[in-house]
Amino acid sequence: MAGKESIGVGFIGAGDIAILHDKAVKRCHGAKVVGLWNRSQDRANARAKDFGCKNYATPEELVNDPAIDAVFILTNLETHLEYTKLALKAGKHVLVEKPVGQSVAEIEEMKQLADAKNLVCLPGHNYIYEASMARTKQLADEGDLGKIVSAYVMYNIHHPEEVAARYPGVVRQILTHHSYILLYLLGKPKKLCAMKATLHYKEYTEEDIAMVQMQMENGALAHFCASFAADDHAADPWTVMVKVIGTAGSTRYSYRDHVEIKPGLVHSQTYTAYQGSVMNEVKYFIENCIRRGEKPLSTLEDAITAQKMIEACEKSIRENSVVTL
Ligand SMILES: NC(=O)c1ccc[n+]([C@@H]2O[C@H](COP(=O)([O-])OP(=O)(O)OC[C@H]3O[C@@H](n4cnc5c(N)ncnc54)[C@H](O)[C@@H]3O)[C@@H](O)[C@H]2O)c1
Repeated sequence: MAGKESIGVGFIGAGDIAILHDKAVKRCHGAKVVGLWNRSQDRANARAKDFGCKNYATPEELVNDPAIDAVFILTNLETHLEYTKLALKAGKHVLVEKPVGQSVAEIEEMKQLADAKNLVCLPGHNYIYEASMARTKQLADEGDLGKIVSAYVMYNIHHPEEVAARYPGVVRQILTHHSYILLYLLGKPKKLCAMKATLHYKEYTEEDIAMVQMQMENGALAHFCASFAADDHAADPWTVMVKVIGTAGSTRYSYRDHVEIKPGLVHSQTYTAYQGSVMNEVKYFIENCIRRGEKPLSTLEDAITAQKMIEACEKSIRENSVVTL
């Protein structure tokens, strides 16, 4: 596919995140959303009209269309493996939303198939496709921050209960972002302990807040917070914030650097970096991975390690213990 002028994209699933991916593909030179498939026809018709693309009758018809080079899996977590396999078996490159799979075994199955078919399967790890994340990684890798002593990934975005109920609790839904971010910037933690609570849902029983403490290989400590329970309204809010602190310097990434005063799809304001990170991710997938044959910045191997971190958090919560990875 290297050098191919136009790249045709198909969406399996046309919910909220499909809107961001449609905008992202439209910004990508030479790429086009050819069509979509969605389980409910009302939504499929409406989104096909909005996106100006075809509405396929079945996912099989979509993946077998020769006009489609890459398939984005944008359905709920439980169906990612089924549709990723369908697309890879049809010889199509895949972008699969996070959390990539329900278990390590599911992600390993995707990896084996993608490797065997020599196709790209990019995990939807959008947050790391940001210039300031790449700069932080470079500063940390090259020793310019000195000895790394601590890292923080904070997420405080209120989600209405009916939206949260479409997802697993924040441990799987949001700490997956935190896990691949930490892996990308500083590598894998050595051990961790986690806690969770349900503070604002009335009926949905999954957790709406979780925190994790970790120790890294070099002894540095790291902290995660993921909350759907409340927005942070105070000065310099920790809406989404990533900090790396070293003996010779430190870095910060914040959603609050670019805010538009209009509601987002789910968020109370529009955090421009959210859409921007999806645009960067899709651009990288199409230009670097599909056209030039490069590896994603965060791979399925990283998705497997991120899943192991999530499962370690669940074990720590269940057993009230510190878990070694
Ligand atoms: N990267 C990010 O920042 C980010 C943000 C939000 C959501 N996501 C991920 O994107 C995916 C979709 O989330 P969303 O917010 O668009 O959700 P959504 O509920 O708006 O859309 C999900 C779509 O999946 C379809 N679906 C549900 N169950 C299905 C089934 N059994 N078979 C086939 N289709 C089914 C629904 O018809 C719906 O159109 C999830 O994996 C989610 O974790 C990622």
